[in-house]
Amino acid sequence: MTAQATATERADQLRVLSEQASGCTRCGLHETRTNVVFGYGDPDADLMIVGEGPGQHEDEQGLPFVGRSGKLLDQFLEEIGLRREDNCYIGNVVKCRPPGNRDPRQAEIDACADYLRSQLRLVDPKVVVTLGNFSSKLLLKTEIGITRLRGQAYKWWGRFLVPTFHPAAALRGSARVMEEMRADFQLVADVIAGKLVYEADPAPAESDSSGAEPEEAAAVDAAPVDQLGLFQ
Ligand code: URA
Repeated sequence: MTAQATATERADQLRVLSEQASGCTRCGLHETRTNVVFGYGDPDADLMIVGEGPGQHEDEQGLPFVGRSGKLLDQFLEEIGLRREDNCYIGNVVKCRPPGNRDPRQAEIDACADYLRSQLRLVDPKVVVTLGNFSSKLLLKTEIGITRLRGQAYKWWGRFLVPTFHPAAALRGSARVMEEMRADFQLVADVIAGKLVYEADPAPAESDSSGAEPEEAAAVDAAPVDQLGLFQ
């Protein structure tokens, strides 16, 4: 009962936050957006997916990943027995569409970081999947590209993070990209099934983690998620 009440409370807090975000003017992106795309899915999910930022369709509908990329994402989820509204929560680094789908700027990322931090704290997933170079490099604080990063689960702030390609890249790319993405989602299924056990490192290295390579991300895994120095 207690756990259920907690899940309900967290769902309520997410809803309140989403309502607050719908009028957000923290950065210049509010001037060109149609809708804030806060996030969508199960507030008590084991899996949280983090994309880069809304595109045109998402901006129009106020929901993440609703275009062709979203359909492919739904397919990968289905293959591991998940649906976006069932044990999955989808969000983005920035909640408003950057004009012309350019990459979000640092000031925009900083202005939006509290929303993502709160989503991670409230959903409290077992595993985070970052889609594409942008969110993967940002959350893992690395310059290593997605092609080399992907294929493994990293320890990340008390949970696992699985970086994979952006579905748009899979749609544009070769059959190999598609297969590698499929393998990454299988890894996600393994984490959810408890086949990978998270073991905190006994003695965190002396490091402020800035610019940390992903392997070093484990050094900060004991930090509470609400102090997440996500993008600094
Ligand atoms: N690409 C993203 O990174 N996020 C979306 O919501 C849609 C497309």
